[in-house]
Amino acid sequence: MTDYKALFDEYRAKIDTALSHYLQTQTKRSYFSEKQYPHTLFIPLNYIMDGSGKRIRPLILLICCETFGGTVDDALNAAIAVEILHNFTLVHDDIMDNADTRRNKVTIHKKWDINTAILVGDELIGLSYRSLLNTRTGRLDEVVKAFTDGVIEVCEGQALDKEYETSTDVTLEDYMNMIRKKTAELLRIAAMMGCIIANANEKDLLAISGYAENLGLAFQIQDDLLDVIANEEKFGKKIGGDILEKKKTYLYLKALELSNDGEREILKDIYNSDDKAAGKIKEVINIYRRLKVEDYAKKDVEYFTEKANDCLAMIDSTEGKSKLNYFSNTLLNRNY
Ligand code: IPE
Ligand code: IPE
Ligand code: MG
Ligand code: MG
Ligand code: MG
Repeated sequence: MTDYKALFDEYRAKIDTALSHYLQTQTKRSYFSEKQYPHTLFIPLNYIMDGSGKRIRPLILLICCETFGGTVDDALNAAIAVEILHNFTLVHDDIMDNADTRRNKVTIHKKWDINTAILVGDELIGLSYRSLLNTRTGRLDEVVKAFTDGVIEVCEGQALDKEYETSTDVTLEDYMNMIRKKTAELLRIAAMMGCIIANANEKDLLAISGYAENLGLAFQIQDDLLDVIANEEKFGKKIGGDILEKKKTYLYLKALELSNDGEREILKDIYNSDDKAAGKIKEVINIYRRLKVEDYAKKDVEYFTEKANDCLAMIDSTEGKSKLNYFSNTLLNRNY
């Protein structure tokens, strides 16, 4: 049996090498010296791109490409384009979410300032497209279209995420639509790009689309859960950040569904208050514990992961199936 862990480590090493090589060529462009110029842009840009992300989007792209007969070399420029785009979304997301830490480091807008973080994000979009255009494929137009759709979906999902902070009638159905756009779409599109580069057929594209979308839904529910239960150092982000920002997360919406009328009003009042004290986080988590919402979240993460794996029944490649199964299980078992 293939050692998938070793294989994924190998993919990851290739992604990181390609990324650092690409960024080095792009951010050492001074005519006058080897120095990074303009350094006010390139130093924070390299700070976010430093290699500590999980790289799951480029990984799924490479796995899908190889599964349907493409090569890593064909797909590498597209893979790093997706990772660069993802990092743009993180830099701007941290401004929008008032986040102080990411990947155990101070966020760009806190370490430098908001203008710097806005511009780093903008530059990352440009750099992601420049890399994407170097993809070795006869179907570049389709790859660029998928990627562009991804950018638009994430922005729309992020808009909903912000709108919901000040809304008190968000449902779990609204939530699922919001996370499909802000998170699942980029994962789905990364997978689609891998398939297109490999010239996969329509049936396989459809199967992988369902697989990656469900995996993306599971991924965001788990991220919401980790925001409450993770070890802060391992997670690299502040615990309870979603609670302080009144995010309409899976846990909060599930808690509203499970509570009785009295308890629901109390939770709504606490959650939607402007309180920024640590006590608010504790109080909300106590209610979550009492209602066992964490168990429901875990169940749903498993449910959407299984749903993802079920989509693989449609693909012919046995090897591809077990590779993608292994990939979803590593995400399911993550604690960061
Ligand atoms: C964070 O994505 C944003 C979400 C969609 C939850 P990741 O958890 O993939 O972040 P990194 O890149 O590994 O840090
Ligand atoms: C992020 O959702 C989705 C993005 C498009 C970046 P979150 O706001 O929950 O992501 P984290 O927890 O900050 O990484
Ligand atoms: Mg956010
Ligand atoms: Mg955030
Ligand atoms: Mg989160």
